[in-house]
Amino acid sequence: MYAIMETLISLLLMTHLSVAVHILKLLNEYSLTTTYGIKTEQLPRFNEYDFIIVGAGPGGSPVANRLSENANWRILLLEAGGPEGILQQIPLLSSLNTKYDWQYTYEPQKNACLGIKDRRCPCPKGKSLGGTSTMNSMLYTRGHKLDFDIWAQQGNYGWSYEEILPYFKKSQRANLREPVDEWYHGRNGYLHVQNAPWSTPLTAAFLNSGKQLGYDVVDYNGRQQIGFSDSQLTMVNGTRCSASKAYLRIRRLNLDIVTEATVSRVLIDDNNHAYGVEFIKNNKTYRINAGKEVILSAGTINTPKLLMLSGIGPKDHLDELGIKVVKNARVGYNLGDHVGFVGLTFLVNQSITLLAKNIRTPESVLQYAINGTGPYSTVVPAALAFIRTKLATDARPDLELVLRTRSFNTDGDGGKSRSISREVYDAIWKPIEGKDAWGIWIGAQLARSKGRVTLRSTNIEDHPIIDANLLDDPNDLEVLVEGVKLAIEISKSKTFQSYGSRLHDIKIPGCETFEFNCDDYWRCAIRRLTTTFNHEMGTAKMGPPTDPTAVVDPELRVHGVGGLRVIDASIMPGIPVGHLTATVYMIAEKGADMIKQSWEK
Ligand SMILES: Cc1cc2nc3c(=O)[nH]c(=O)nc-3n(C[C@H](O)[C@H](O)[C@H](O)COP(=O)(O)OP(=O)(O)OC[C@H]3O[C@@H](n4cnc5c(N)ncnc54)[C@H](O)[C@@H]3O)c2cc1C
Ligand SMILES: *[C@@H]1O[C@H](CO)[C@@H](O)[C@H](O)[C@H]1NC(C)=O
Ligand SMILES: *[C@@H]1O[C@H](CO)[C@@H](O)[C@H](O)[C@H]1NC(C)=O
Ligand SMILES: *[C@@H]1O[C@H](CO)[C@@H](O)[C@H](O)[C@H]1NC(C)=O
Ligand SMILES: *[C@@H]1O[C@H](CO)[C@@H](O)[C@H](O)[C@H]1NC(C)=O
Repeated sequence: MYAIMETLISLLLMTHLSVAVHILKLLNEYSLTTTYGIKTEQLPRFNEYDFIIVGAGPGGSPVANRLSENANWRILLLEAGGPEGILQQIPLLSSLNTKYDWQYTYEPQKNACLGIKDRRCPCPKGKSLGGTSTMNSMLYTRGHKLDFDIWAQQGNYGWSYEEILPYFKKSQRANLREPVDEWYHGRNGYLHVQNAPWSTPLTAAFLNSGKQLGYDVVDYNGRQQIGFSDSQLTMVNGTRCSASKAYLRIRRLNLDIVTEATVSRVLIDDNNHAYGVEFIKNNKTYRINAGKEVILSAGTINTPKLLMLSGIGPKDHLDELGIKVVKNARVGYNLGDHVGFVGLTFLVNQSITLLAKNIRTPESVLQYAINGTGPYSTVVPAALAFIRTKLATDARPDLELVLRTRSFNTDGDGGKSRSISREVYDAIWKPIEGKDAWGIWIGAQLARSKGRVTLRSTNIEDHPIIDANLLDDPNDLEVLVEGVKLAIEISKSKTFQSYGSRLHDIKIPGCETFEFNCDDYWRCAIRRLTTTFNHEMGTAKMGPPTDPTAVVDPELRVHGVGGLRVIDASIMPGIPVGHLTATVYMIAEKGADMIKQSWEK
């Protein structure tokens, strides 16, 4: 919060006129309402709708749009948060730890997050129209072909790569720079995908060093995923394109959108059929009926919470809390994520990074306000590499490297965005505050450790218990060690050396006994400066009736309960390579199509 306020105040102080111009432009572009042209209602206008959708993120927003294409249906979309904020439109600014964030954290970890405050890695989740797409890093990356072919092999008919690719394309409106494999991209969808209009010299350096190491520069959403790439972003003209901005500015008479409405449970009758939802707004409880279906799109943490509060979940856990069991199901299990390491910092001898003092300038602000370009039009993860390490067991890349155009010493918030403990920040990054530095974050793509989401209580207000169980499987740690070695190699390439790039070598507190830069040092370091990419998935797993761990079937209907589907990141049976949002949009487009097919017959 402080960082945002500080940025805003400094922007206003420096050039209040230009900020005003920009804000007016944004308001103008998204119409002069607080919801950016999205029509909302105070309360549902009817007691019954055909479909009720819970959650307006990348799962729920496309479903609301596509179902309301049928003018004979009445659709209600309920969202716990309010409209998105103006600052969220500016790519560089972060809204973590604000009212737009559910502000969850993991339970204290045993083998990971040891250098993070209270050993609890953060688990931010967006709470507004647009869901987590209003606060994520905007990276648009699809999974690997094999990810989806494996889903299909597990009995999920309709989910092979060949069958889902049309839905990736349907959702997308691409306008990308070379190299781009045009055939793989959509041009007529709702979701704008572009490259950042501006970049630091670090992006070119990263791509060049990839080439120097023998990798290709590729369109990672095209023919070949493995290689080095400029980031493709969910962006339009230098501003964020969230799920709600993309899909909900449609003003259809048969779609009612109600914000600040927290669904507390699904109403299910004695025949195990979902017939509506109960929600709370301004301390009042309401019940609305669904004539056809209820669709849960509340995300990987809140969807299992709602299922369990509604009696769908593991019998022993529900019994413990005194919740009447509607359906014994493995809800909350199979929690997966891309575990990562955030401890690599490289110092350079030139001002080529997004050092706060370099970019909080009238020039940068004007550049954004007037031309929609410059540092404020970019995201920190400027470029990516997908790599197959020697530990890979199939064709998929098991490692991702993310170029970061600044590090914790330069972002002005003291590592708070990732809850770095004070002790660790002061030891490592405080001594280099104000110095130009960049980083590489490392992510294990096929991370095998699985966690679990459970209820803390039956009170809807209480945060669920999220035990991510990070680095439980030793393979995940070893992939990250391979990643560290490659990242250091990149920093030693000719291009990065021309900037005098040098690995910051203060030892991480707790790892002093190891020799710096040996494998055991890095194992220790990774357990301390652990992160996840917040790609939580899998807590309402899709699978055929023969799979006892599956919660929904291949048409996303909850097993054993009628009139209820789940359409969000929680249905993924396995974690795809890359960042998840593009895949959630695909799931939503396909899910909406399946609903139409079953009711329009
Ligand atoms: C910091 C961060 C950076 C990320 N960066 C990227 C990235 O660069 N690229 C990428 O692809 N992915 C990224 N992700 C992940 C990505 O944003 C998520 O995977 C994606 O948004 C999941 O979509 P969803 O629809 O499943 O859930 P969400 O986007 O979380 O949407 C769920 C919605 O449901 C609402 N809701 C929840 N409970 C209730 C309730 N009881 N009643 C009513 N409404 C409710 C929520 O408020 C929210 O609006 C990032 C995530 C984080 C946290
Ligand atoms: C983006 O900017 C271009 C050029 O100014 C304009 O033609 C286009 O309509 C803009 N796109 C959107 C979606 O606002
Ligand atoms: C809801 O109730 C709480 C506690 O009773 C109160 O503090 C709060 O102001 C109420 N909110 C609204 C919107 O009425
Ligand atoms: C905006 O772009 C124009 C044309 O490229 C350029 O001349 C001008 O200096 C830019 N303005 C700012 C404030 O960057
Ligand atoms: C940065 O370091 C490189 C490599 O040592 C050197 O060639 C270059 O001149 C230095 N640049 C500056 C501005 O000091």
